[in-house]
Amino acid sequence: MSNFLSGFKCLSCGKEYKKDYSGYICTDCGSNIDAEYDYKAIGKVFSVESLKENTDKTVWRYKPLFPFNDIKYIPPLDMSLTPLYPFSKLREDSGMDEVYIKDDTRLPSGSFKDRASSVVMAVAAEKGLSVVSAASTGNAGCSWACMGAASGIDVIIYVPKTAPRAKIAQLRVYGADVRIIDGNYDKAYDLCVKESGETGCFNRNTGYNPFTREGKKSVSYEIWEQLGFKAPGSVFVPVGDGNIISGVWKGFRDLKELGLISRIPELIAVQSSKSDAVTRTTEKISDRDIDPSEIKLESISATTVADSISVDLPRDGIAAVRAVLETGGKAVRVDDNDIIKNIKYVAASTGVFAEPAGVTSVAGLRELAASGGLDDIREPAVCLLTGNGLKDVDAVLKEKD
Ligand SMILES: Cc1ncc(COP(=O)(O)O)c(C=O)c1O
Ligand SMILES: [Zn+2]
Repeated sequence: MSNFLSGFKCLSCGKEYKKDYSGYICTDCGSNIDAEYDYKAIGKVFSVESLKENTDKTVWRYKPLFPFNDIKYIPPLDMSLTPLYPFSKLREDSGMDEVYIKDDTRLPSGSFKDRASSVVMAVAAEKGLSVVSAASTGNAGCSWACMGAASGIDVIIYVPKTAPRAKIAQLRVYGADVRIIDGNYDKAYDLCVKESGETGCFNRNTGYNPFTREGKKSVSYEIWEQLGFKAPGSVFVPVGDGNIISGVWKGFRDLKELGLISRIPELIAVQSSKSDAVTRTTEKISDRDIDPSEIKLESISATTVADSISVDLPRDGIAAVRAVLETGGKAVRVDDNDIIKNIKYVAASTGVFAEPAGVTSVAGLRELAASGGLDDIREPAVCLLTGNGLKDVDAVLKEKD
């Protein structure tokens, strides 16, 4: 069995790379590269009909769209499709006709990051690696360590000392080599790039390793299938580094290339007002057709309570800004207090308990509803719930009315 990867293309300057390129980023401009596929060949084995006949209920039913050769390399953990629930309370409160939540709190390590880690771990296993690394605000590391434990591959994680206790506990029990960094996520990130570069360790860093986007994109295939093979009108995505939204965009771009959808949904990036680098950049750009090489992200000083999206310099920022601009979407800011209040709003009205970053999507939709900004949002709308609430109970216990 082989894969349909055909090469890579820089998301900023457009430089192209062959499929055996083993670097992480563009050698010309230092930006992220995007995997490309032979869609014509994929179309011969992947269609609505083939999916209807496929009895595999996990993300591996989308195997032709992943960048590894053989299913035998995937970590032996359950990556079943996650539920897409209608959210009737939010429908009533917002005045929309069709609103859903996508519950990724129940993936193996409790976050959306398992979509990326399972695919990138399969790539690592196929390369025959015995040790891999990553920096993380918490979830990506937990997920990488979880998949490493299942695959028998050692994992080194660089994590800021401010990460919630539950996430540090998760890292430790999965047996990772945990390097607690006296500094923020950005410092952990840079150190991981430096040290992994020196030792040649395969680095999963978000917005650096091109294959994380290739795993995250499966959420779009799932939503499309769960809506009866129809794309939603809009998807609300919590944004830190911007790799999740870039993966969502990639998934719908794949479906469009395959002729399976005619229009990519509007992607709505939601950020805390205390970690809003992508939103700031998006607001400064008036022309949605801007040349990608002109998109520049500036580092800010992030302080949000939603630790998973607390990022100074978004590492997949160019793709995130492009995802918003090119899909006709928007970037929305929400207050930290509203993020915390939405944990209870979502849990008490749907039974799904998500962490602060995880409900930021819902906070964004409600912010637009309150400010009259929903009129031009297409339906159905889907809010991604990206991390489990048990990962950060302190945040919710501190809630003020
Ligand atoms: C729960 C959760 N939500 C959202 C995000 C944001 O994803 P990204 O950093 O790719 O924008 C993260 C990233 O750590 C996360 O863990
Ligand atoms: Zn480039």
